Amino acid sequence: MSLYHVYDTVAEELEGVREIFADALAADEPAIADFLEQVGKFRGKMLRPVLVLLCGKLCGGVVHEHRVAGAVVEMIHMATLVHDDVLDEAETRRRGATVNALWGNETAVMLGDLLLARAFLLFSSLARADWARLLAAATSAVCEGELLQLYYRGYHALSEERYLEIIGKKTGRLMAISCELGGEIAGAKQETCAALGEYGQALGTAFQIMDDVTDLAGDERQAGKTLGTDLEKEKITLPLIYYLKSCSVQERQWAQDVLSGQRKDDIRELRDKVRTGGSVKQARQRAGDFIEQARTSIGDHGPVELREGLIELAEMVIHSGGFGFKG
Ligand code: IPE
Ligand code: IPE
Ligand code: MG
Ligand code: MG
Repeated sequence: MSLYHVYDTVAEELEGVREIFADALAADEPAIADFLEQVGKFRGKMLRPVLVLLCGKLCGGVVHEHRVAGAVVEMIHMATLVHDDVLDEAETRRRGATVNALWGNETAVMLGDLLLARAFLLFSSLARADWARLLAAATSAVCEGELLQLYYRGYHALSEERYLEIIGKKTGRLMAISCELGGEIAGAKQETCAALGEYGQALGTAFQIMDDVTDLAGDERQAGKTLGTDLEKEKITLPLIYYLKSCSVQERQWAQDVLSGQRKDDIRELRDKVRTGGSVKQARQRAGDFIEQARTSIGDHGPVELREGLIELAEMVIHSGGFGFKG
């Protein structure tokens, strides 16, 4: 099964998500409508809505509320990307110019806020305080993850454990809640919803590890977004943690000088060293562990063919090129 095949199983439902999403980005004021149109124009993989839908299907079937939840998690995701591109000073996103590149940081901050507010406004139309609480807690975790990442910028001794905690919040939680809501909305048993949440959490963690590998070793054209900012911003990601651990005392000192900007000109060399040494492979293997965890979490929940779809989706995360851009 390919990624596109997995997506095909919810293609119709995804169209419904897109319609709700487009309506939620409408505005009477022409200037605001222009901004929102620009961010809505470039589509990503829609992975989080796909997770809501697949998990809903696995738990008995997709209803209107799933489509709304799908649009909502995609809006929250987009808001965090608009903000993240400010932090990373990124110029390209989804093969287009970032909001900050087009209109500056001030607009990007407010547009991200607007997207978040619109997302919660849309979700409140379902009048389910229990679901809203789950989503608000997950969104709060995403922001905490991004804040923690900022806090630990330049902290070269960051442990693998702390790194995993940070990415578990900034990327894992939104995928976890997408899966959990898929189950909750379908009225699935608590045990099943929890298992789906664990699957999403592990999937998201593996996804971010692979994204961090891509930032170092990937191709910008293929990724459709600015790469290489992690080293430039002194973000300590897993391949770098492994590399720093494997260095001699001398090399480690050199690497730290490059990272802190004292040897800025050597940044290319540092990237090549991290990229070509064993640390990328090691990080990929660690991502593989989380994919295994995702598989275990699914256990025997739901019908086998839908379960296999979720497992297939998780496996695509670590297969290079297999999780390419879906425009
Ligand atoms: C990008 O997420 C941000 C990370 C969590 C690494 P995606 O790779 O899902 O972005 P889009 O939605 O497809 O653009
Ligand atoms: C993901 O981190 C950002 C969020 C979860 C908001 P990155 O900074 O690695 O994402 P990309 O690489 O810019 O998409
Ligand atoms: Mg970024
Ligand atoms: Mg990245």
